[in-house]
Amino acid sequence: MADSKPPRENPPEAPAPDGWSGRFGEPVAALVKRYTASVDFDRRLAAVDIRGSLAHARMLAAVGVLSADDLAAIEGGMETIRAEVERGDFPWSRELEDVHFNIERRLTSLVGDAGKKLHTGRSRNDQVATDLRLWLRESIDALIDGLTALRRAFIGLAESHAATIMPGYTHLQVAQPVTFGHHLLAYEAMFARDAERLRDCRQRVNRLPLGSAALAGTSFPIDRERVATELGFEALCGNSLDAVSDRDFAVEFTAAAALTMTHVSRFAEELAWWTNPRFAFVALADRFCTGSSIMPQKKNPDVAELARGKTGRVTGHLVALLTMLKGQPLAYNRDNQEDKEPLFDTVDTLADTLAIMTDLVAGGLNVNASRMREAAAESHATATDLADYLVRKGVPFRDAHEAVARAVRHAEQGGVELSALPLVELQSFAPEIAADVHAVLTLEGSVASRNHPGGTAPDQVRAAIAAARRALDSKPG
Ligand code: ARG
Repeated sequence: MADSKPPRENPPEAPAPDGWSGRFGEPVAALVKRYTASVDFDRRLAAVDIRGSLAHARMLAAVGVLSADDLAAIEGGMETIRAEVERGDFPWSRELEDVHFNIERRLTSLVGDAGKKLHTGRSRNDQVATDLRLWLRESIDALIDGLTALRRAFIGLAESHAATIMPGYTHLQVAQPVTFGHHLLAYEAMFARDAERLRDCRQRVNRLPLGSAALAGTSFPIDRERVATELGFEALCGNSLDAVSDRDFAVEFTAAAALTMTHVSRFAEELAWWTNPRFAFVALADRFCTGSSIMPQKKNPDVAELARGKTGRVTGHLVALLTMLKGQPLAYNRDNQEDKEPLFDTVDTLADTLAIMTDLVAGGLNVNASRMREAAAESHATATDLADYLVRKGVPFRDAHEAVARAVRHAEQGGVELSALPLVELQSFAPEIAADVHAVLTLEGSVASRNHPGGTAPDQVRAAIAAARRALDSKPG
């Protein structure tokens, strides 16, 4: 490929490829090399590593530690490397351990001595922490976008079902009728908080470790503010020992991600119930289902099940990161190299899960409103409404509760719904009951009466949808 500068010969006394073997009397064992190498996974940081290195080099030039020529050589070489990485023909080598050494060595082979000067006033310890924070910051932004799309999908579906009646459950027993729109907006509320958590966590991710060097800072007259500004960090990490060693930002992010997955998982669990023919509240579009290799009739909600299953995996990553940190004395320890795979996989898993759930909610659910209504009409779901009615007629709530409980028992014994009992039978449990009671016992009357902010009434669902849209529009991305 065409390099901007002709490669220079390395002098014969150039350091060995591993970067430190001048110190050692024998080569590193092959298994140790494989065990300690991270380049197979941390090459993913190449783009941010290059950006971090360029900001560092420009700062070194600005404070007079690097010459203008050296900086120009580094910038040219890095441009070549960036293009190689993008095209997929960068010569990655496990011999060179990690993404940082790979890029630095390639730079030196492209531009000679200037490449060897890049690491002045820096260590891989502050370098890797910087890379990770840059990478995670961008990932968080993409995940917030993913959450926004998912929230819009829930809001859209809720709008179509603001007045659709379904049974509301506690203890997985029918409790009171609710609107399906209200139920869906409960998830929107969870995902809104998840986005808030990510935004909050982003502020602590977005601090610059570079300048901390190996652990104690550097003797060069560095300008950390300049580097922070160039890389878009909103603050500096204040303590060099802390900056190179802590990974609390990764823990915090993974905790937020695990909680988001947990919310998805609750919805996935509901989908699995709802698609069961005994419920048949919704049917999943075929593109979200898979069949069985042996049972020809099966149509399984595998996407929902995998979302539920992958939640365990992300929670596992959170535990892995916490455990990785807990025994580490200050400052940097190699344990921290183990932060990457859990973090990368958390981001990938959550991003895919949000995307697939967005498609599913936006267009993959066939809602069977009449099945939902039937199920709500089945289990004396308006018993609380009758008790509330009696309270309005002057009966103390506890007495009203008891009278209605006896009426429900009577209805059960007769094999009918509470709402189907004739007026005289209802009056035998509470003489205060009058002819106006049947309006109260309808499903529509029940949901419409819960007409206050946070309630399930269709009017409130519509108001909540408008509020959710306003919140999304005022905080895009
Ligand atoms: N690959 C290492 C990591 O991911 C980079 C830092 C190595 N530092 C060191 N002192 N060995 O953490």
